[in-house]
Amino acid sequence: MADKDNIKEGKDFGIGIPQENKPFHVKGAGALDWGMQNRLGRIFNPESGRTVMLAFDHGYFQGPTSGLERMDLTIVPLMQHADVLMCTRGALRSIVPASINKPVVLRCSGGQSILSELSNETIAVDIDDAIRLNVAAITTQIYIGAEYEHKSIANLIKLIDSGNGYGIPTMAVTGVGTDMKRDQRYFLLATRIAAELGAHYVKSYYFDKGFENVCASCPVPIVIAGGQKLPELEALTMAYKAIDQGAAGVDMGRNIFQADSPVAMIQAVRAVVHQNMRPKKALDLYQTLLAEEKKKSKRQTARAKRRK
Ligand code: R5P
Repeated sequence: MADKDNIKEGKDFGIGIPQENKPFHVKGAGALDWGMQNRLGRIFNPESGRTVMLAFDHGYFQGPTSGLERMDLTIVPLMQHADVLMCTRGALRSIVPASINKPVVLRCSGGQSILSELSNETIAVDIDDAIRLNVAAITTQIYIGAEYEHKSIANLIKLIDSGNGYGIPTMAVTGVGTDMKRDQRYFLLATRIAAELGAHYVKSYYFDKGFENVCASCPVPIVIAGGQKLPELEALTMAYKAIDQGAAGVDMGRNIFQADSPVAMIQAVRAVVHQNMRPKKALDLYQTLLAEEKKKSKRQTARAKRRK
């Protein structure tokens, strides 16, 4: 119980200074409850309004893809440079140090593989487990126009309802099936459907001709996936164009962890996303960091040899 002796009565009431109600910085999230806003505010940097999510959930349907064979060796060193980690609960519990102070977006769908129909997913995590893992957001994929379109949309609806009950936002991923075209028509449709159903932000792919219309017509933030590995300059250019045309960040995997230097690449991507750094300058930054890393590794090898 608080000490009752010598209680000092309040006297500085700031009369004449109106209490400030600051607008919330995440698009479409101004009317959400405190817990939702707080979690979204951990994902989207309040200064830039943007995010760099490191995606390493690929194993849930692809197995140990290149760069993710040993996530303890390849992904853990990158985590300090990411704003957000996106992964499965299996990776989270087995690889990610619990002491890490990074928001986690939890992959909550699964049930298919690269050997079967991609759109045939189910919800693979109970909301109780997501809460237990203290995640900042949950996510599933919708496959508009695919064989299991309805099922994937139903998964999203279920996830949003579960998350809403506990103030946990949902990111919808617009999954692109093998026969689908990555064009304006597809992404206008898929991102808008996801937002109208209540997704708090949406992951799309970048495409030329019309991406800005996708960002404009989606009432919540869009982040882009990186997609297949590209030469570094192309990946940085893609991130730059996406941000320039209205994306609120990236949720990038292969273009980071399959780069020659993933640590340098994630830092270059950060510069593009948070500082609007132009792609060529970001490439210079990447190359400088890569050269420093090589020098450091040479020095370490030489030191190790001398010790022998
Ligand atoms: C793919 O299914 C996963 O959701 C990935 O997280 C997503 O595609 C982003 O990774 P990448 O940049 O490698 O495409």
